[in-house]
Amino acid sequence: MTSPLLSRRNVLLGGLGVAATAALAACTSSPGSTGTPSRTFGTPTPIPPSPGQKLIEKTLTAKPVTLDLGGRQVSTWAYGDVAPGPLVRATAGDFLRLTLDNQLPADTTIHWHGIRLRNAADGVPGLTQDPVKPGAQYVYEFTVPDPGTYFFHPHVGVQLDRGLYAPMVIDDPNEQGGYDAEWIVVLDDWIDGTGTTPDAVLKKLIADGGTASSGDMGGMDHGSMGGMSMGAGPWGDAGDVTYPFFLVNGRPPTDPEVLTAKPGQKVRLRIINAASDTIFTVALGGHRMTITHTDGHAVQPSEVDAFYIGMGERYDAVVTLKDGAFPLVARPFGKTSGGQAMALVRTAGGAAPGADVTPPELSGQVLIGSQLQPAESAKLPAKAPDATVDLNLQGSMKPYRWGINGAQFGKNEPLTVTAGQRLRINAVNMTMMTHPLHLHGHTFALPSGLRKDTVLMAPMQSFAIDLDADNAGDWMIHCHNIYHAEAGMMIALEYAK
Ligand code: C2O
Ligand code: CU
Repeated sequence: MTSPLLSRRNVLLGGLGVAATAALAACTSSPGSTGTPSRTFGTPTPIPPSPGQKLIEKTLTAKPVTLDLGGRQVSTWAYGDVAPGPLVRATAGDFLRLTLDNQLPADTTIHWHGIRLRNAADGVPGLTQDPVKPGAQYVYEFTVPDPGTYFFHPHVGVQLDRGLYAPMVIDDPNEQGGYDAEWIVVLDDWIDGTGTTPDAVLKKLIADGGTASSGDMGGMDHGSMGGMSMGAGPWGDAGDVTYPFFLVNGRPPTDPEVLTAKPGQKVRLRIINAASDTIFTVALGGHRMTITHTDGHAVQPSEVDAFYIGMGERYDAVVTLKDGAFPLVARPFGKTSGGQAMALVRTAGGAAPGADVTPPELSGQVLIGSQLQPAESAKLPAKAPDATVDLNLQGSMKPYRWGINGAQFGKNEPLTVTAGQRLRINAVNMTMMTHPLHLHGHTFALPSGLRKDTVLMAPMQSFAIDLDADNAGDWMIHCHNIYHAEAGMMIALEYAK
């Protein structure tokens, strides 16, 4: 098929891009085993909390479940009986002992996304731990140093695109609060159990390139891109997968979550994008929102009509509620089928907006998160970089193969850093798709000083991102489109030993 879109998606620019194509073409790694080094770790050594540290304990059971999506039964995997799974909440400085009980028919792990934790608890099989076998348990022990909005998910294959995700909130002991209520809003794109599974979707993407659909939506359709389109807006191409549902807190807009408060109350929203392949535009009908934090870090408060949120990103927003019933909409960027995600915000009676409502705020001033300015308290101390490395995002839809620095994960050279260094990463997106670039175990600063652990990189966009190497270990940097990651768009960042 010579879809103009596909050929656009295949474009790789510059000499590096051409070299990368050759390097990528030489790879033979298969899905689910993207060259992960075969290190073994054994049972983690238990560590006790320090004297005076509060201990938070919880068991998370990963298991097969059947969920009801507005009357449609889907079988999937989740932490407990529902998706999202149970909230893990603690205060900065607490010690967490979280036991993963694997009742799945597959190996799994848990990664605590965005938390600056000890390397051994980071949940990356082959890099920080052994995969947790079916029927086995694994104990994660770590201190949570920084307040903020986080989430957790497996770091195995494309398991994130099942129901295996849950919010994590670390409270700030010194925060004033100043709001009447707090709502956690978890966004997702859903395909599991709708006639296919994420593993089958990935297989199909690799076999055919292009767009994967749920089994009951007519399957592959390269000619029309199965409902994909170039979105108007900053992100170019939409994702790779056609989803039949988009969810807020596990519910479709036909059976929405209802968030209730009183008119005039001030609410803090903690919005998490747990989707695998979908950037959303988020708006609350009838309101403007004040963005206060992203990825846990405070920003200079910024009032917006709407904002984009990439996979793995988090935004906290404060809003003073009006009187009535309002749609909280997350509109999938560049996707024209599957509708949208929506919750209902209610401070009074009255008719609820319909599942396909378009709040005018969606076409108002839409914030690109990387343009936020950091709060003073969130800035890294001024310092020139001690070392610089390049990070080039590369790949193509056809063949469906993604990589960093010339090769797929496992075939590419790990980046290295020495403890104590300020490392500058010159990240360049050499593809015609947007990629949410995510770093484990640290947060980085954009040139503005804005602190993030996940940043949307538009086609051909580059960022010089700085981090302080203050957390020794072997870490991942990868695209948080889980299909790209699993098709190779990951690289390790290792501390010199
Ligand atoms: Cu949420 Cu390595 O990712
Ligand atoms: Cu990507």
